Amino acid sequence: MPRITLHHPISTLLNQLLFPPGTLLTKEALDAVIDSQRAYSYQTCPLLLYGSVKEDCLNFFSTPPYMTIFLDKKQVNGVLNLLETVHLPIPILQTLDYFKKFDFHTYSHVLMVFALSTLLAKDLIPDYRECIQLSATGPTHDIGKICVPLPMLKKTTPLTKTERGFIEHHAAAGYVLLSYYYKDIQHLACKVALDHHERRDGSGYPRGILLNDPMVEIIAVSDIYDALIKPRPYRSGPYDNRTALEEITEMAEQNKIGWDVIKALIAHNRKSKPHYREITISAERRGTPPSYNVYGVIAEGENTDPKY
Ligand SMILES: [Fe+2]
Ligand SMILES: [Fe+2]
Repeated sequence: MPRITLHHPISTLLNQLLFPPGTLLTKEALDAVIDSQRAYSYQTCPLLLYGSVKEDCLNFFSTPPYMTIFLDKKQVNGVLNLLETVHLPIPILQTLDYFKKFDFHTYSHVLMVFALSTLLAKDLIPDYRECIQLSATGPTHDIGKICVPLPMLKKTTPLTKTERGFIEHHAAAGYVLLSYYYKDIQHLACKVALDHHERRDGSGYPRGILLNDPMVEIIAVSDIYDALIKPRPYRSGPYDNRTALEEITEMAEQNKIGWDVIKALIAHNRKSKPHYREITISAERRGTPPSYNVYGVIAEGENTDPKY
């Protein structure tokens, strides 16, 4: 059980405050919150049948670069078969409505992380049941963003330290919200929500631990890739596919993420669909990153809060 001090509140979509800012998150504190609603049992629904999720996923599959990744119909059907097994509690599904309405980027992002991580898991995780478990974590990995004010998620200029801390809060918030809805702090989705920004060399957040879980790493790489190839408010445009893959390759060279996931991602980006173990990666860099990009840049002088 991680011991984390929460610098910001954690509330549900219905504005039920689970933890105020300043709370030290302990097993006892989390168990007490879970116990408070143990009598409720949430109805579940297949994710793909919820709202327009299936139609939206198929639309996203047909836009570049995903149209190459999801080119092989047999592979797509295999992924859809796995995706169809994912059922989620209704309050978790309702967060998709929230994102679709107020932050469409996060809506498309969580669905594509869901689909892409499932595709990669089919290559890298031999156990079918583990693949299903992993698939169910993709659509919920960023659920904690419901606790981040929308103007911060959409800001086009550098964040202040406080705002940056608020964005990073989504990892712990997701861990708490999923523990609450699943009533199980050991659920893989909780671990993925908490750890998907951690890195192998300890340079990630929120805890700076060494990322060593293959399932979390598949979500982490899918998360980075999707964030690079989509337009984001804090930079002038998306990374082109080549540059995005080069950026991720560089992260493997720096031991932030492992090579196998990257090889699997690159293999799916090739029309010939080679096995990931056949992939050799060139060290040459030919891509051009977007000209304006303030991701990771902290605005000076706006905040000196010592907590961050
Ligand atoms: Fe995230
Ligand atoms: Fe994400």
